[in-house]
Amino acid sequence: MIRLGCKEIAASVMSQLKNDTECFIQQGNRAPSLAVVLVGHDGASETYVRKKEEACSSLGFLHFQYSFDEDCSENALLALIDELNEREDVDGILVQLPLPDHIDEKRIIDRIRPEKDVDGFSPQNTGRLLIGEKCYIPCTPKGILRTLEYYNIGTAGKNVVIIGRSNIVGKPMAALLMQKGLDATVTVCHTRTSDLKEHTLSADIIIVATGHPGTIDESYVRDGAVVIDVGVNRIPDPTKKNGFHLEGDCDYKTFASRDVSITPVPGGIGLMTVAMLMSNTFEAAQRRAK
Ligand code: GUN
Repeated sequence: MIRLGCKEIAASVMSQLKNDTECFIQQGNRAPSLAVVLVGHDGASETYVRKKEEACSSLGFLHFQYSFDEDCSENALLALIDELNEREDVDGILVQLPLPDHIDEKRIIDRIRPEKDVDGFSPQNTGRLLIGEKCYIPCTPKGILRTLEYYNIGTAGKNVVIIGRSNIVGKPMAALLMQKGLDATVTVCHTRTSDLKEHTLSADIIIVATGHPGTIDESYVRDGAVVIDVGVNRIPDPTKKNGFHLEGDCDYKTFASRDVSITPVPGGIGLMTVAMLMSNTFEAAQRRAK
């Protein structure tokens, strides 16, 4: 097994961004800024939001954090987004997902002005992505592409199987990989796929983004294939101080003696997602400054 760690890649992206930010500020621009909105107290979401805040501080970005209780109203969130849309000192807006059930996620995302939608989830961004127009590329798919590039893993003519059809990962990943230039043959599998193995066993690259540990093990993967594990699952573990450990969507240990390259969890794609959010926020600041 070859471990495709992402620590170094993320660090080099961050280091480049830090230099670019210093130049940007020296040219007389205000520091890039990101507003992050968190609703409720989900432990994983709180961790992600903290990591985004740390990344902003390490780059000298401004960071505005808004926290709401679980039972906050949809109108309160919409009012905040309206305010952030108007504010000159806010370049990017990110609403941490998932939102509580009583809030219409789609309505909230729709409200973010496309120029400030650094997650790339708005209908305008999604549409532009699909037709290959310039847009914010959603952070996880963008991070996966950077990882493949870093490890010189080409996609042209390759069979890529994506497991998971989310708006955040699966769908934008498929749209990107089938574009001219990336030129992959893409198959998207999901919970209703009748024979997952039939697809994965002919894949050159498998991207697993289901949010379920153990979605695939080594028996789903042919020799020489690449596996990108997007999952970050908290597994209860009384031996750990915080009561859990992290696992991806793949049964990682089963790959130990196989000729397969695979991204680890932690230390994998999660690091890239945060770095790419910073990259999109910098892009938003550049667009504003033009
Ligand atoms: N929840 C899980 N992944 C993401 C992400 O990339 N962005 C936001 N806003 N919420 C998420």
